[in-house]
Amino acid sequence: MTDLLPFDQRDGVIWYNGAFIEWKDAKVHVLNHGLHYASCVFEGERIYNKNIFKCTEHSARLHASAKMLDFSVPYSIEELDSIKKQLASKQNIIDGYMRAFAWRGSEKMAISAQQNKIHVAVACWPWPPYYSDEARKVGLKLKFARYRRPSPESAPVASKASGLYMICTISKHEAEREGFNDAIMLDYRGYLAEATGANLFLVMNNNELHTPTPDCFLNGITRQTVIDLAKKRGIRVVERHMMPSELSNATDAFLTGSAAEITRIGSIDNIKYPNAHKITLDLMQDYHNLVRGL
Ligand SMILES: Cc1ncc(COP(=O)(O)O)c(C=O)c1O
Repeated sequence: MTDLLPFDQRDGVIWYNGAFIEWKDAKVHVLNHGLHYASCVFEGERIYNKNIFKCTEHSARLHASAKMLDFSVPYSIEELDSIKKQLASKQNIIDGYMRAFAWRGSEKMAISAQQNKIHVAVACWPWPPYYSDEARKVGLKLKFARYRRPSPESAPVASKASGLYMICTISKHEAEREGFNDAIMLDYRGYLAEATGANLFLVMNNNELHTPTPDCFLNGITRQTVIDLAKKRGIRVVERHMMPSELSNATDAFLTGSAAEITRIGSIDNIKYPNAHKITLDLMQDYHNLVRGL
């Protein structure tokens, strides 16, 4: 099974600094700034029926994330779009995942790395749903994370930067060890923020969709898409700060993300969402149709 093969031992091609090269040859030196100082930004995108969903939005976000880390991606948004499309075709991906990323190289191994070369690579592979079939059937079992999303004064919170994922991996590992699928993170003020790799939505007041204001975490491309889809259906969408105590007022809840797509939540700690609300089911269907161009 390809799924089980480690990522450095697969076949195919990866686009790396201007050329398509053999997958197994796409290597970095151990002394690189991206690895040691987390000066790396990345994108996670899905390919549906050979099309990269929101391709340009993801390329633009890679550029914006790099700017927040004080570097520039040395390929334009248009060039990135073209590279990603060529790669998906070369890899013959029908449904899969695309990862574009940029990082500082090895010229200087110190906090200051003003002149370090910026490397860029893009890889893609077939990819199943992010959460297991079982979790998606009954709804995700979530707990609260130990770590909180940092304030905008503490980190470049709107970037999709590797360094911001340290607290996500720790929180997700902890959740998985305890039998949960994932963790919900609060923000530095104690408001509900998001999961470790996806945004949060709650169905409230029977027919409204409430979602935390993304002022210290990623305003996901899927999140924005789902808000548009909801508005098209005439659903009232409320973006606001929410306390964890409000979770018990919700009748249903779900996560959104390029990887997570729209995945229903079954429980958060001891708060249960046993029944899928029509709003959730309708949006899942709308999203399914949109990404596949149906
Ligand atoms: C921490 C975090 N929040 C939110 C999201 C959702 O973002 P998007 O919908 O753009 O994939 C992701 C996924 O990339 C993420 O990693």
